[in-house]
Amino acid sequence: MSHPAPTNPKKYAYVGDPLADPPPPELMEIFDHHRGEKDALITVLEEIQHHYGYLPTKQLQYTARELGFPLARVYGVATFYNLFQLAPPGRYQVRVCKGTACHVGRSAEILTQLKAKLGIDEDETTADRLITLQTVACVGACSLAPVVVINDRTLGRMTPEQVWEAIEKLQKEASD
Ligand code: FES
Repeated sequence: MSHPAPTNPKKYAYVGDPLADPPPPELMEIFDHHRGEKDALITVLEEIQHHYGYLPTKQLQYTARELGFPLARVYGVATFYNLFQLAPPGRYQVRVCKGTACHVGRSAEILTQLKAKLGIDEDETTADRLITLQTVACVGACSLAPVVVINDRTLGRMTPEQVWEAIEKLQKEASD
């Protein structure tokens, strides 16, 4: 026995399709800007991350569909470069500078201490989603080495103890 044809085939075709809606305008703008460029993938992902703060799964799927890249390639690029984040960052992004001047200024000690005290590794976020720990190449403030950047705030001539004091302050503010 044959089944009757759906009365609204378009609706049925989209059932379960997470990309049934068109991309949001801000995302479309990024795509339109780079459509047809063969090597645009990294730039597009950078712009998406700049806009959303990370690379949401759905936006990666839209990228593959709209720009004609295989989804595996989009994920391959997104996971290969550690500048990309696939999960939303914590409220505070704490970036330890690993540039030469800061390295000489023993920024590695700052990083080691933060990892130990926060219980997370580089590019991870604390369970309370307060702190994301990252490293960054020279931020152009070498005369202040070693430097730690918390969101948009640059802290210079830091010791591990001073950085931890700054973190504790953020933790306290968040719990008040
Ligand atoms: S090396 Fe850290 S600011 Fe330049």
